[in-house]
Amino acid sequence: MVPATLRGLVPRAFVALGVALVAVACSSAAPPTVAPRTSINALMVTMVDNAGHVLWDAEKPELAPKDDADWLEIQDHAIQIAAASTLIQLGGTGQADMGWIRQVGWSTHATAMGDAALAALTAAQAKNLDALVKANGALVDTCQNCHNAFKPALPTEGIVHQRPHSESH
Ligand code: HEC
Repeated sequence: MVPATLRGLVPRAFVALGVALVAVACSSAAPPTVAPRTSINALMVTMVDNAGHVLWDAEKPELAPKDDADWLEIQDHAIQIAAASTLIQLGGTGQADMGWIRQVGWSTHATAMGDAALAALTAAQAKNLDALVKANGALVDTCQNCHNAFKPALPTEGIVHQRPHSESH
């Protein structure tokens, strides 16, 4: 039995608790659900592959970075691949995409690609071609490892590379 002097306080305590809970719920709201707008096939071709070739082309004597603008271009494309490594873990609109992201190994391969891209970014920020070549080698390994595990013989959305790589930049 609650003593008479406390009876008025009990409901007030519940109101205070309720206000506090609402405040906590609002401050820790779940992040919005994000729906993919493109297929993984499209991202591979237009973002990952295009940007990858800008990085690998830096190893060709005629396309080697020679000034700040060239190094900046490599930084931009390294960031695109790092961003793509996150996007491809969200899935895509392609028929197989939501199945791939649920499979064991997908996130590991995607994260490895992002790690290699960030190493290329660090190399480009330091304008260090040797470090870029090393990161580029790690990057191509991540493409091959994931393709060996997941890529079908024919692209599921029929999207393939459409122009010579060195014209992409
Ligand atoms: C996490 C896994 C994963 C990683 C990492 C990955 N890919 Fe892919 N890639 C795929 C899958 C799966 C497909 C097939 C998509 C489809 O057919 O819908 C694909 C398709 C492609 C395609 C188009 C299809 C074709 O047959 O030509 C290209 C180009 C491509 N990837 C390039 C790359 C490059 C370059 C890298 C590394 C910089 C890379 N990918 C890294 C999973 C990956």
